[in-house]
Amino acid sequence: MQSAANPALSESPPALYIHFPWCVKKCPYCDFNSHPISSQASKGRYLDALQEDLAASLASADPQLASVFCGGGTPSLFGPDVFATLLDEIKPWLAADAEITMEANPGTLEHQDLGDYRRAGINRLSLGAQSFNALHLDALGRIHSPGDIRTSFASARRGRFDNINLDIMYALPGQSPRQAEADLSQALELEPDHISWYQLTIEAKTEFAKRPPTLPNASDVAEMEARGLALLASRGYERYEVSAFARPDKQCLHNVNYWRFGDYLGAGAGAHGKLTQQGRIVRTRKATQPRLYMNDPLETIAEPVPADQVVVEFMLNALRLQQGVSFQEFFRRTGLDESAISPVWESLAEDGLVEHHRIATTPMGFAYIDGIIQRFLT
Ligand SMILES: C[S@@+](CC[C@H](N)C(=O)[O-])C[C@H]1O[C@@H](n2cnc3c(N)ncnc32)[C@H](O)[C@@H]1O
Ligand code: SF4
Repeated sequence: MQSAANPALSESPPALYIHFPWCVKKCPYCDFNSHPISSQASKGRYLDALQEDLAASLASADPQLASVFCGGGTPSLFGPDVFATLLDEIKPWLAADAEITMEANPGTLEHQDLGDYRRAGINRLSLGAQSFNALHLDALGRIHSPGDIRTSFASARRGRFDNINLDIMYALPGQSPRQAEADLSQALELEPDHISWYQLTIEAKTEFAKRPPTLPNASDVAEMEARGLALLASRGYERYEVSAFARPDKQCLHNVNYWRFGDYLGAGAGAHGKLTQQGRIVRTRKATQPRLYMNDPLETIAEPVPADQVVVEFMLNALRLQQGVSFQEFFRRTGLDESAISPVWESLAEDGLVEHHRIATTPMGFAYIDGIIQRFLT
């Protein structure tokens, strides 16, 4: 089923994602579009391609960007000058107080003054810490040590970053609940502004899928979650999304836009975008392989999202937010009306899984988001 064109449905995309597809080496659990970096030369070509891509998509969408997210891969393999060049290109479309995030791997920052990225215009840093236990970092195939996380965090604070996220994973191979809690405590000692706390998942086609490590059992994972959630709450980090915890006013604006089903542009190899065009919701993507992307950075595959899928995609995002969203926001973002969700929504509300007057789970439903989504599929 195609989505019905609704002329009232239009939006200027408030967000831009830029993908950097290389890493020093591929981690065995990672299914992101990242490739081991080969030669210096391709970085220059990649920057040229990004500039061409951005110039075309910004000119055509003419956005007012409230956020830019430079993700990967490992964007910090590129120097501050690259970000200064890109942000200069984007400048005419940037809101004055735009959130501009760069992901960084602590193992790539040892020779870098992080203040140089801040001066280039990046104002939020997301450090892939993952764990503070050297054995677990090794099991994850990471190139950094616990000391590298502390050094890069200190360098970022010295460089005037006042908005820093740490990515931490739990349920790691051989990890005990006490060790998972110790990872979070050590992260909290640094007083980050935001923590993304993910359960390690085994993704298809990764090294871990081919040679599965021994993971903690379900009762240990439940204990890790209970202890971790209590610890984060006790230190004033609000859980505003399934895996995202923030100090007051430090939620990630860019990710909140995704979860509210907002539009965004995507630039770079394999980057996805979501646009509302001529009353339709359209997903865009770029060639995944860096080589193919660099050969033709303007090539974009665009596919309208069918109406029955729009509801599921909206719920997959919005229900992850602790606060959810209003019904008005659902109507405004999707162009659909109550009839698209009402029978299922009412039965979920009767079961105590979702709120009656808002698109949000109840505290009980928050633990069963997958089951709730399933009800929209059947
Ligand atoms: C795209 S990675 C980018 C960060 C950077 N490349 C790094 O790893 O340091 C974003 C985050 O997703 C999380 N992640 C990646 N693969 C995961 C998996 N299989 N299970 C859970 N979390 C994962 C990690 O915490 C990682 O920092
Ligand atoms: S550094 Fe990050 S993006 Fe790169 S392979 Fe590892 S997890 Fe994936």
